[in-house]
Amino acid sequence: MPQASSPIGVFDSGVGGLSVLRALQAAMPHERFVYLADSAHAPYGERGDAYVAARTHAITQYLREQHGIKALVVACNTATAAAIHEVRSSHPTLPLVGLEPAIKPALAVTKTGHVGVIGTRGTLTSAKFGKLMASLAGEAHFVVQPCDGLAHAIERSVAQPVPAVEMTRNTAPPPPASTETGALCKRYISAMGAFGSATGQMDTLVLGCTHYIFVAHELRALVGPDVQFIETGEPVARQTRRVLETAGLLHHAEGPVSPQGGRCATDHIRLLTTGPVAMLQAAAKRWLGLPPQCCQSVQVP
Ligand code: DGL
Repeated sequence: MPQASSPIGVFDSGVGGLSVLRALQAAMPHERFVYLADSAHAPYGERGDAYVAARTHAITQYLREQHGIKALVVACNTATAAAIHEVRSSHPTLPLVGLEPAIKPALAVTKTGHVGVIGTRGTLTSAKFGKLMASLAGEAHFVVQPCDGLAHAIERSVAQPVPAVEMTRNTAPPPPASTETGALCKRYISAMGAFGSATGQMDTLVLGCTHYIFVAHELRALVGPDVQFIETGEPVARQTRRVLETAGLLHHAEGPVSPQGGRCATDHIRLLTTGPVAMLQAAAKRWLGLPPQCCQSVQVP
């Protein structure tokens, strides 16, 4: 039976969910986390619902059985769209938090009433996203752009070494000189229309995939300084905290930390990947400043 001292499970198709992990850790520094990057099976965005749902089920089961997680954050818009309802019904006692493109927060921010939304094809063509958009019809003018290949290119760009730097909301580390991510950002942003603060221009861009914060610098160069980026890390962290509080599972500073699950030298964070461990180590170092010993390769069939 999981307890307050048990870890919170967090997963994504790859390294994108590290942006959410960062926000979770900042909001709940006393918690322990097990992050799983399903990099051997990434990208999810162009795979189809059945595949993504099967992976989501396998990973949920694995994190419960092998790591005794007390809650799960599906730090992936694509997996949330494809599988969150089923996971909820198969695991009714597991506190569960999913992600969806932050359209409603974007409405609160836009002044021009023109909002751009980028995400994976899986997310943006899902019934869940369709329902969300239908519920907001007429509230703003939305330009929705699936970005095939971008999450995958970001995964690949991780292998390129750059120094670890601080990552904050709406900013990201310096570009890893990936012409591939740059070219894809350019292609998709150009296809969306005009960005800026003038009438009729998109002044708000929703990053509807957890990978995209890591190319925020490239997106910024394309849309200009006036466009507000909206991502989901902080709201998801607040929601996770609420869910844990409601379940009586929030770990307080004075509470004991269970030795089960292992711990990282710097923090109670354990990072697992079904793909190459070196890639996760590079991402953890670059984006979270975590040492390589936090990372481990695992198999989740
Ligand atoms: N990071 C994921 C998301 O938020 C999916 C990326 C992918 O694997 O295509 O949708």
